[in-house]
Amino acid sequence: MCQDLWKDPMSLQNSTADLDMFPGHVRQHLIPEYAGDCVYDCIACDYTGPLDRFLYTCPQCGSLLKITDRLFGELKKIPGPVWRDIFDYRALLRIEALQGIFLFKELLFPAVPLQDVVYLGEGHTPMVRANERLCRYAGAGFFIKNDGFNPSASFKDRGMASAVSFIKYSIRTRGLTEVLGICASTGDTSAAAALYLSYLDSSIVKSVVLLPKGKVTPQQLSQPLGSGATVLEIPGVFDDCMRIVEQLAETYQVCLLNSKNPIRIMGQKSYAYEVARQLGYQTDNLTVVVPVGNAGNITAIMEGFLDMRRLGIIETLPHILAVQSRHANPVAEWRASGTYRPVTVRPSVAQAAMIGDPVSFPKVRVLVNSDFEGRFDCIEVEEQEIIEGMLQANRCGSVVCTQGGESIAGLRRALSAGLVEPDRVFVVDSTSHQLKFSNFQQMYFENTFPRDYEITARPNLVNAPVQLDASAAAVAGYLGLKKKSI
Ligand code: F0G
Repeated sequence: MCQDLWKDPMSLQNSTADLDMFPGHVRQHLIPEYAGDCVYDCIACDYTGPLDRFLYTCPQCGSLLKITDRLFGELKKIPGPVWRDIFDYRALLRIEALQGIFLFKELLFPAVPLQDVVYLGEGHTPMVRANERLCRYAGAGFFIKNDGFNPSASFKDRGMASAVSFIKYSIRTRGLTEVLGICASTGDTSAAAALYLSYLDSSIVKSVVLLPKGKVTPQQLSQPLGSGATVLEIPGVFDDCMRIVEQLAETYQVCLLNSKNPIRIMGQKSYAYEVARQLGYQTDNLTVVVPVGNAGNITAIMEGFLDMRRLGIIETLPHILAVQSRHANPVAEWRASGTYRPVTVRPSVAQAAMIGDPVSFPKVRVLVNSDFEGRFDCIEVEEQEIIEGMLQANRCGSVVCTQGGESIAGLRRALSAGLVEPDRVFVVDSTSHQLKFSNFQQMYFENTFPRDYEITARPNLVNAPVQLDASAAAVAGYLGLKKKSI
């Protein structure tokens, strides 16, 4: 590595000198040294095991794994209000590894030392108040926390930052010489995985993504291609790709980068930490609205709020409103009927969440039947509502993707059904960037949706470019401009 071009990002010399400026009660905690005692922990049986390999399912019973920090209780020695101060003051430090989601390192995933943190600019996404027109449309005031403003333009970067930091740490500490990162994707996991892996040493790390052919947008497809990943297109839907990578991960030496990898979930918890921090840790009247596909994001968000409540950083867990399209609704069906059954998906503009058998569903069930009992609802929306949620938001100065449109549609329905009161604080998750899904906007504007989407364009929401001659007179004539009086 070229020493003069590559400065050691861990050189803390400059920052330690500055530490004296900070109040005494936070000073010793600002640079996190806590490493915890993180283990793989089965959600169904008594298996626990060390993080000395990449593991995705329980070697004893095959269920999903989560990561447990066995020393988490130690963190309670610091009172909740002091934690809040630690995060605020830590954000003032100029240490790269703490600029992103590892601001919350002790809660997030303490096992990775700062020197291995891969930071590409993820996290700390804006929370923007919807304007009055959009609030009137939805039926209540709300904020959009927009995870489209991440490096690969979706929330997946949060989980990829933790998973790929762990890969970097594993390469250094275990002397790995070959790592093949692999994932199935509806388009955003693949973009994030390919981006983050491309940051590591290419003589050791390769990336492969499996995509359902024709079911990711052209923009999403361009992302892993641009990052140099091997892109494999498979006939079928996401669930078919997922089954293949699950089999590969059981049998071959690959590193699975889907949210079935529990270290992905660790990074995605940061969304919850940030929402709490952005609201001044006032969460008692809060509803967070989340679109659900493979159910990794909603799992992580619930776990993140739980971490904070356990440490007294927040007092109350929020209410979680999950949203699904009627064309991909296994979680909504489970809530309505009490029975979980995978569904066969139909085409959806919330294509990134078009998943019939969410891998993380067992984790959702555990959380909803324990800590989030009475604090969780799932609402189903129509395709027409999803696309119009996106279009309405984008006409009101809010950049949201189709999954963000799904969240807005879900909030609107929940309000009109009386499921939630309008005086609550609503934070709506827009999970990726609008531009990744501009093809669906185009299909709406041209009214060319194939029938199975069940979407018909309304003229008042349609827009199209106007062709004119290259002259000021033509533009003025078209716009009906009035001449200035002299
Ligand atoms: N929104 C976007 C933009 C997504 O990309 C996804 C999932 C979801 C919502 C649903 O989140 O799966 O955690 O419940 N995309 C995955 C992918 C499946 O492959 O990119 P989830």
